[in-house]
Amino acid sequence: IKSKRFIIPLGDIVLNQLANFSYDPAKCSLAESLFSALKKIEANLPPELTVVDFFRTLEQPPEKALGDYALPCFRFAKAIKKNPNEVATELKRLLEEEKNPWVDSVVLKGAFLNIFTNQKEVAKALVPSLVNGSGFNILKSNADHNKTKVMIEFSQPNTHKEFHVGHGRNVCLGDSICRIFTYNGYKVIAANYIGDEGTHIAKCLWGVEHYTGSEKLESVENKAEWLGQRYVEANNKLKDATDDATKLQYNKEISEILKQIENKSGKYYDTWVVTRQYCLDDFNKIYKWLDVKFDHFFYESEVSEASQAIVEEYMKKGLFVEDQGAIGFDMSDKKLGFFMARKSDGTTLYITKDLALAKVKFNDFDIDRSIYVVGSEQNFHFKQLFYALEKMGFPQAPKCYHLSYGMVVRPDGKMSSRAGNSFTFLQLINLVIEEINTYLEKYSAEWTKEQKEDTAHKLAVGAIKYGMLQADPNKEIVFDPKEWVSFEGNSGPYLMYSYARTKSILRKAQEQGLKGSLANLDLLTHESERDLMRHLYDFNQVTINACDNYRPSTIANHLFFTCKAYNRFYTEVSVMKAETEELRAARLSLLEAFADTLKTGLYLLGITPPEKM
Ligand code: ARG
Repeated sequence: IKSKRFIIPLGDIVLNQLANFSYDPAKCSLAESLFSALKKIEANLPPELTVVDFFRTLEQPPEKALGDYALPCFRFAKAIKKNPNEVATELKRLLEEEKNPWVDSVVLKGAFLNIFTNQKEVAKALVPSLVNGSGFNILKSNADHNKTKVMIEFSQPNTHKEFHVGHGRNVCLGDSICRIFTYNGYKVIAANYIGDEGTHIAKCLWGVEHYTGSEKLESVENKAEWLGQRYVEANNKLKDATDDATKLQYNKEISEILKQIENKSGKYYDTWVVTRQYCLDDFNKIYKWLDVKFDHFFYESEVSEASQAIVEEYMKKGLFVEDQGAIGFDMSDKKLGFFMARKSDGTTLYITKDLALAKVKFNDFDIDRSIYVVGSEQNFHFKQLFYALEKMGFPQAPKCYHLSYGMVVRPDGKMSSRAGNSFTFLQLINLVIEEINTYLEKYSAEWTKEQKEDTAHKLAVGAIKYGMLQADPNKEIVFDPKEWVSFEGNSGPYLMYSYARTKSILRKAQEQGLKGSLANLDLLTHESERDLMRHLYDFNQVTINACDNYRPSTIANHLFFTCKAYNRFYTEVSVMKAETEELRAARLSLLEAFADTLKTGLYLLGITPPEKM
């Protein structure tokens, strides 16, 4: 990829190799310089050693005092059978001799090189990426990515069940992954897969029948939630039934409901049709509130027939066999037990429907990669599924990925709501809005009602999404509404506030006829300016890493540190009262660059910050 925006002083071949990894021109250039330096030390390098190895070995030290990049020299010394400290000394000498424009100074620490980059070059490299407000969209032109169709399946709630906080985490995560993949140039299909059939529905409708309260489904506002409560009650009622006769009776009633739904006739079927739609409508309200869109909806009810056919097909092909009445195949070679595709009573399972769904995704949607965002309690399910797809001969099987995530719990350990055993996402939304409103009361006396509502909505969405995304997906989230809504610390509102404040400074400057200028960014030599620029400069690489590792948290945390760097810069140097006009213009530009980058980063997390606060 030849970036039009960054001028990369590298030969084409090297550039093509490195561009697959990076948009960090300084690192590319350093890798090349170090590689040719090593060639000067030892003319006959082992052929497997390439410039890419240098690129990969160059690391970003956690502390600024250790430079912008560090190179441990051990593996290179080993490759040419020399002492690491000596190799490091030689590399330093050669690097200084070459006068690479990106290098300011090199410090030797044993077998490590600590490299400080030239601040003016970094500033210059930032300039083209900021012109025309086009941000950093260069990643979009990655030719390999452009050809790759990725389906990202997320949310996948079950109708007739509560939409709890864990489902909320899923939506935030999946939507952000879609945005990050699109930003990285992939063709993305955002898909949902609604669980609209199964025993849980029969139980819910049974719960509706046994409901003794006075609320009428037709007139309650949140119908999906109401139905979810009936499901919880039904389960409790079933658990509480102690005598066998009652249990038997209950189960008979539930199987009758299930039968009608499956046969698509009878009054329960009619109720299923209506209540299913209520649930779908309510899910869509949540998506709309969160500003989350899907390109395609799949439904369990739509793939269940095909799943029966798949069982037949792979029995004929000899992969699935009968084992004590059940049908499937042995996966003990992978320590995955028996893969059960059909039970002895003839019914297929959740996993069988997943086989049918995957087939539709591969064949009808022609996708190259398939990502499933699903909670960690289904880790085993997806191991089995992907192995089954491989054995069934789907070439895309190795390109399937389960993005697993942990639970969301409240700090008091209580997960219970008035309805039963979980905390619903709507309850969380309401808590957050309540907290946000207490803040807005303090700040925005002169605002209109619409302005207040719009700002509260943006802040609430941002607080929730940031709270959900800032944690590594593997980690459990302990959710504290006060902390999520706090305008200080690692929170969504802190980032949004940093953005709005910067925009208001820029607006004020504009009112005074003052504009930023990219002409003299190299005047920005203060340590805090240098640090902020470095953060902005790293943004693209961070989004690449986030994409490669399926980790929006990488972006969230980078933005947090960028904001901290910005706030330090803003307290340590004066923008409006800068010593010279040029310096002020350069600083205003840095403010613009910061605001642009932050807005893009927040966008990748699904967050739209208010312009004013
Ligand atoms: N509806 C399912 C549940 O709530 C999740 C579906 C996940 N996706 C899939 N292809 N299996 O457990």
